[in-house]
Amino acid sequence: MAKEVLNRWAAHSYCRTIAILLLFWRNILVVRPEDRLADDGVTSWKTPRDSYLRVAGDGEGSSFKVALFADLHFGEDAWTDWGPQQDLNSVNVMSTVLDAENPDFVVYLGDVITANNLPIHNASLYWDQAISPTRARNIPWASLFGNHDDMPFEWPIDWFSSSGIPQILCPSANSSGGDECSFKGTTRLELMRNEITHRPLSYTGFGPRDLWPSVSNYVLTLVSPNKDKKLPLMFMYFLDSGGGSYPEVISSVQSEWFRNKSQEVNPDSSVPEIVFWHIPSKAYKKVAKKVVGKQTRCVGSMFQEQVAAQEAEMGMMKRLRERPSVKAVFVGHNHGLDWCCPYEKMWLCYARHTGYGGYGNWDRGARILEISEEPFSLKSWIRMENGTLHSEVVLSM
Ligand SMILES: *[C@@H]1O[C@H](CO)[C@@H](O)[C@H](O)[C@H]1NC(C)=O
Ligand SMILES: *[C@@H]1O[C@H](CO)[C@@H](O)[C@H](O)[C@H]1NC(C)=O
Ligand SMILES: *[C@@H]1O[C@H](CO)[C@@H](O)[C@H](O)[C@H]1NC(C)=O
Ligand SMILES: *[C@@H]1O[C@H](CO)[C@@H](O)[C@H](O)[C@H]1NC(C)=O
Repeated sequence: MAKEVLNRWAAHSYCRTIAILLLFWRNILVVRPEDRLADDGVTSWKTPRDSYLRVAGDGEGSSFKVALFADLHFGEDAWTDWGPQQDLNSVNVMSTVLDAENPDFVVYLGDVITANNLPIHNASLYWDQAISPTRARNIPWASLFGNHDDMPFEWPIDWFSSSGIPQILCPSANSSGGDECSFKGTTRLELMRNEITHRPLSYTGFGPRDLWPSVSNYVLTLVSPNKDKKLPLMFMYFLDSGGGSYPEVISSVQSEWFRNKSQEVNPDSSVPEIVFWHIPSKAYKKVAKKVVGKQTRCVGSMFQEQVAAQEAEMGMMKRLRERPSVKAVFVGHNHGLDWCCPYEKMWLCYARHTGYGGYGNWDRGARILEISEEPFSLKSWIRMENGTLHSEVVLSM
């Protein structure tokens, strides 16, 4: 009897020790500072790469060039003849821009795919296709999510017409909408896990877990070519502006994360910073309204369509305004707009619609950024598919 009690007590205490150890371990996972790590509740994974990008060259007159690819919408209507042709066209745009500009880095600015009703297997496949021109040229890149990259499943009305449900999505007429049918949509975590675990040239990072469902929140540091010092030249922040499976918004927790992170890496605001996300904030709408009929420093197309802003402003713009080091914000989402306008002490910019997928038939192109040091300067222009350049602007003033 006594032995049994003792055994039970031992077992109990053993379990408790394990539980405490697990808790402790979990806490270590949760408080770790590294943004590239994540724990999706099932597995955790790591990548050995750091978040530093180094400018090539010897310091004197060296520069770093970034191409922004926005709204590619790969995999859209993949079951029609139209979809795959658009993807080929988009590959051509990217290839043309990459060969003309020879950038050091590429930013995929969201809506990389149109994930509506794609099983995750296919979504990752299309995502990889969208990355392929960059990967083929050995250029590193980073990506963030737009509102079309992770979508809940929606029944398309034409699946109820005579052509019916595509066989590929539902192989068995007898299946009830479970796994066999893949009627699940995609998720940000699955997409990103695929990119991070399989693509060594990717600098994309998971945000800290407490920002979820918002995922692509991380910072990259551009360092000077001098190999002896890890001298930051510029910080690049990437944020997930939502949409798809959750509201189109940058949450107040995300803006708090930005405040914490920027204070940690750049406490005295002495190093220039730029910021990327997909859906314009409400400030873009205000800026566009103000310039109607006025002489301004704005460049680019401003009135092809209305600014489609986030649903709410939860403090992110205030955080940006507080930091004199923030030079510019870059968004996509509106396919017909490619302007840059001054706003307070920074610039608000659109990229240029790069993909043939998605709405609108405006000519395709890409925004290019050129960062130079000594003295620091940030210049930008748009490279069109047909090779022409326009809208050059200096954003570091
Ligand atoms: C999904 O991928 C499978 C296998 O690669 C392919 O046969 C199918 O056509 C794809 N479906 C869609 C909707 O792209
Ligand atoms: C549907 O599938 C279940 C289980 O897989 C099977 O028992 C049943 O006979 C099937 N019904 C039809 C109509 O094929
Ligand atoms: C920001 O920092 C404060 C103070 O250290 C901390 O309490 C808070 O949890 C942090 N928030 C985020 C989102 O990182
Ligand atoms: C290239 O495209 C631009 C704008 O998209 C257009 O204005 C220009 O005329 C085109 N140039 C050539 C040479 O086709």
